[in-house]
Amino acid sequence: MKGLILSGGTGTRLRPITFTSAKQLVPVANKPILFYAIETIKNAGITDIGVVVGDTKEEVKKAVGDGGAFGVKVTYVEQEAPLGLAHAVKISQDFIGDDSFVMFLGDNLIKDGINSLINEFRQNKPNCQILLARVANPQQFGVAELEDGRIKRLVEKPKEPLSNLALVGVYMFDKNVFEAVNAIEPSWRGELEITDAIQYLVDKGYDVHPHIISGWWKDTGKLEDMLEANRIMLEGIETRIEGFVDETTKIHGKVIVEKDAEIHDSVIRGPAIIGKRSKILRSYIGPFTSIHDNATITESEIEHSIILAECVIEGIGSRIEDSLLGRNVKVRRSERKPKAYRLMVGDNSEVEVL
Ligand code: TTP
Repeated sequence: MKGLILSGGTGTRLRPITFTSAKQLVPVANKPILFYAIETIKNAGITDIGVVVGDTKEEVKKAVGDGGAFGVKVTYVEQEAPLGLAHAVKISQDFIGDDSFVMFLGDNLIKDGINSLINEFRQNKPNCQILLARVANPQQFGVAELEDGRIKRLVEKPKEPLSNLALVGVYMFDKNVFEAVNAIEPSWRGELEITDAIQYLVDKGYDVHPHIISGWWKDTGKLEDMLEANRIMLEGIETRIEGFVDETTKIHGKVIVEKDAEIHDSVIRGPAIIGKRSKILRSYIGPFTSIHDNATITESEIEHSIILAECVIEGIGSRIEDSLLGRNVKVRRSERKPKAYRLMVGDNSEVEVL
């Protein structure tokens, strides 16, 4: 069995971060989301993995390499444009060959792994196995309607959902899916939809098995989902202090301080992680905060946020919360006159001031 991770797409919902970076490489608890996907597949015993890449291919290739660092073999499949999840399957036919495979959306996180699901698929040998989860906002997902435990209909982002069962971003297929992806036509939004491909399999009488999961799963396409994923992953860390922490600093709860990080006269309330060579000076870092490498936080308070590498935050009187700062962002108090907010932010940025 092979793995196929989708790491192309446009990431419009995560702009401006995705103007300069692949959303799958945004770190959650200081580790790119994509790496969790690779590890999840590897843990299920699958080591031959295709990664579908788009505009951000160079960055993804640089981060993942040949997969050796993860103990897997990675083959890249280049998608000329984000023409849909089923299109990504279609162009991966040479890589997959006659094998069965698990397809994993590269911006999805599934906390309990997929080992038991892969075992179930291997044992029962359906043509396709999909995962479903109950959600509060089915309008934003592919949704499945079941009848007597079998799939009746699948609809992509329905205006009037027929159920609250959303398709989780992990699918298992045998080679018959290629008949489906080669037969279907693009949808109104110009994409080859995976829901249409699976509907094709259902309509042709192939065995499509739905599996409703109850564990935590997240599609991290939006800021609040990214912050929730960060929260869940930080809950799982264990304290590890490899950097320098002075004696006036107080550390509470589970906190990771990476090598060569320095913390002076501060309070760190975990779960939180401070990346390599970052400096925290006279500051408060609250729960569910991930600060990446080479950042400097001075006389500021931050909670429930993701701060990427090289950021500088200085003298901010109010607490920064629920925020995602891209790489090398500077937020600081200005003593200059006239007293004013001075901003230089990219397209689609969001700033909320007190
Ligand atoms: P989506 O989140 O559905 O799409 P997107 O990345 O274009 O984001 P947005 O809706 O905010 O514009 O994609 C799910 C995953 O599949 C994600 O990791 C990107 C990947 N993908 C591809 O690799 N190729 C594609 O053609 C599409 C549509 C998505």
